[in-house]
Amino acid sequence: MIISIIGSGGREHAISKKISESPQVSKIYCIPGNAGTNEIAENIEIDVDNFDEIKNFLIKSKVDLVVVGPEKPLVNGIVDFLEKEKIKVFGPKKIPSKLEGSKIFTKKICKKYNIPTANFGIFENIEDTFKFLKSSNFPIVVKADGLASGKGVYICENSNAANEAVKEIFDGKFGEAKNVLIEEFLKGDEMSFFVICDGKNFQNFQTAQDHKRVYEGDKGKNTGGMGAYSPSGLINYDLEKKIIDKIIRPTLKAIEDLGENYKGFLYAGLMIKDNEPYLIEYNVRMGDPECQTILPLLKTDFLEILNSCCDERLDKLKIEWKNQKSLCVVVCSKGYPEKFQNNIKIDNLKKLNLDKNDFIFHAGTKKNNGEIFSNGGRVLNFVSISSNYKESRDKVLKLINNLNWSNSFFRKDIGFKVIDK
Ligand code: AMP
Ligand code: GLY
Repeated sequence: MIISIIGSGGREHAISKKISESPQVSKIYCIPGNAGTNEIAENIEIDVDNFDEIKNFLIKSKVDLVVVGPEKPLVNGIVDFLEKEKIKVFGPKKIPSKLEGSKIFTKKICKKYNIPTANFGIFENIEDTFKFLKSSNFPIVVKADGLASGKGVYICENSNAANEAVKEIFDGKFGEAKNVLIEEFLKGDEMSFFVICDGKNFQNFQTAQDHKRVYEGDKGKNTGGMGAYSPSGLINYDLEKKIIDKIIRPTLKAIEDLGENYKGFLYAGLMIKDNEPYLIEYNVRMGDPECQTILPLLKTDFLEILNSCCDERLDKLKIEWKNQKSLCVVVCSKGYPEKFQNNIKIDNLKKLNLDKNDFIFHAGTKKNNGEIFSNGGRVLNFVSISSNYKESRDKVLKLINNLNWSNSFFRKDIGFKVIDK
């Protein structure tokens, strides 16, 4: 089969690598990919927002299956667009992608289907919002409705901070805003829960915990993710059953009631309190870096899983996992998530000794004259799997130290809640 993967991050490198291990693959194209995907696939320089050009390329190259990595093309309807051209594609259509594309869409589903989540209000103008905030308890959470690359969420300790956040949102910081979402602040421990769906059936696709804050001890600004581990330390049979029964099934029913179905990965961001799950948000894709962390644990042919989703026969497949612990540390450009420099040469990559349980997934990298250069804030993902989280982290940190890249920084405490307790 000829496969095309859309995206250019660590997630897409991990997806390409796992697909490349399938005996059913003859060729992989990454649109646009990075220096890592370039080793196993052919990178095709097309803007992921240019659906027409992507379609023309896919038809010309006789691509059998397209896998969409990031949320933006999904929310903008790339799946509907390609399916109209009879191109087989793995990912949710435009309406179900609103689960990520509109936080208010998701909150309304939660209310209608009794899905546990933070109490919330939707406000349509600044005056009403300010009035509400005057009598609120703090901390409180202020959210922009649409996609905001993880930046549209404000945890506010007092009314001044909340008013400021509301102003920024209505002033258009994340695009034109018709409304703002205000949520009760939930206390507890976070967990990422993944399922894979074929439109009719779904199966669990592991759990993980990511670290979004830039500094050790989960301090500082939010980032795209500084590292992750899988499985989450919180998961147990009872909790898993509650997540499925109270959150995942009612959500899939809501999508069905809209006359749609859900095909693709569904990623529930949860808060767990006293072994009870609350939905914080949905993403309609794999997480990054959770994907890089989870896929090395997968035993079943990944392409077979994706194919069975596209053919609505996921119920016939048993997805098998290694009973190991995976941990990922993201190596970033100095300065990220603020200003950072690109085009810094990364020298030692080829010299690193990886064994079969170690993986390096590229994110912001590009190749020039056979050399690898940085090309983004999150540059490389180091992953190791072993029988325990600490051993995995020790191995990853050893490899990163051997890389010794001068422009890098990374967190050494990924997994502290399950390792350093
Ligand atoms: P989101 O982009 O919705 O995942 O939000 C980013 C982060 O903000 C989450 O990972 C949580 O750490 C935090 N967050 C969002 N909503 C809430 C909430 N209602 N209560 C507590 N923390 C929240
Ligand atoms: N790691 C968080 C995300 O992918 O949204």
